[in-house]
Amino acid sequence: TIHPLILAGGSGTRLWPLSRKSYPKQFAPLIGETSLFQQSLARLSGSGYGAPVVVTGSDFRFIVTEQMMAAGFEPEAVLIEPEGRNTAPAILAAALHLSATDPDALMLVAPSDHVIPDADEFRAAVSLGAHAAQNGQIVTFGIRPTTPETGYGWLELEQGAATGAQPLVRFVEKPDPATATTMLNAGHYLWNAGLFLFSARTILDAFATHAPDLLPPVQAAISKAKPDLGFLRLDPQAWAGAPDISIDYAVMEKANNLTVVPFEERWSDLGSWKAVAAEMDVDENGNALSGPATAVDCKNTLLRAEDSSQELVGLNLDNIAVVAMRDAVLVANMDSAQDVKLAVNALKEKG
Ligand code: GDD
Ligand code: MG
Repeated sequence: TIHPLILAGGSGTRLWPLSRKSYPKQFAPLIGETSLFQQSLARLSGSGYGAPVVVTGSDFRFIVTEQMMAAGFEPEAVLIEPEGRNTAPAILAAALHLSATDPDALMLVAPSDHVIPDADEFRAAVSLGAHAAQNGQIVTFGIRPTTPETGYGWLELEQGAATGAQPLVRFVEKPDPATATTMLNAGHYLWNAGLFLFSARTILDAFATHAPDLLPPVQAAISKAKPDLGFLRLDPQAWAGAPDISIDYAVMEKANNLTVVPFEERWSDLGSWKAVAAEMDVDENGNALSGPATAVDCKNTLLRAEDSSQELVGLNLDNIAVVAMRDAVLVANMDSAQDVKLAVNALKEKG
């Protein structure tokens, strides 16, 4: 059995004004009818999958249970972080929780804010990695790179690598632009999709070897955790002592028992409005519309009317993204979509 561990604690601002601190993008129906979180749960369910473990922040605990139940999942194991400490402590806490009942439990760590349209193909890739995970490997999933992306982890394959599960030479998290360009041109690198498969035992050993300073605070946070209305609330004082670090830096860059399964199907982490538009259905002029939105003489636009009572009409627009909420509207050049944080910062400065 594979236990999905869904990380639902992040609060990205790159999809402002939809994604907010109080309502991050994983809980919104960005693509399709259900939220990205609900789609992540569904992708990792069915035969061979156990009950999901969800790690999230205190503010999101009721959205999480509400959305789980609406999607047909019993919220059996929802761990609450007193505050976000990035992915390494969250994954370690879940591994300790699972290993209490089954030290050899396989865990599939998955972000809650990605789009992988072909769930069957994804589960097939997971199956390809399961054997390696049972044998003590940390399994990553690799996406063929198309740009010198500096926001991703990069996976170095052996030269002339085959298909299927294979040893990983090296994991490079968030390279500088020059290194990313070199890796893109070299041809034997993949992007890290941000999903990992391993046994609880394997990842606990990896933390003990590569990031031992996380163990005492996170162990204490779990052992002093309080059941609270069906949630498991990690001990705030112990948790405050956990370093704020991602799994990629804490473990992946240092481990030498890494395996990669290449994943050739569509994958997106929806890192910008442009990336969201690329996953939406478009009209014959390349306009991606959502809600009561109308495009007149427009091409290659994103027009999202997030408030169903408010009409949004674009007239003679080209390469423009508009996201209209009741309390805030973003109008941006599509190619500046990755700079939305500048807009958020400008608002913060205004106070
Ligand atoms: N519970 C919890 N607590 N979840 C968290 C926390 C936290 O403190 N911080 C982040 N997450 C969740 C996010 O919501 C997201 O679903 C996932 O963990 C990954 O975190 P990101 O902050 O989005 O990481 P990233 O995008 O910079 O990089 C990761 O993903 C890339 C692919 O999208 C890395 O794994 C990269 O190597 C990878 O290429
Ligand atoms: Mg991300």
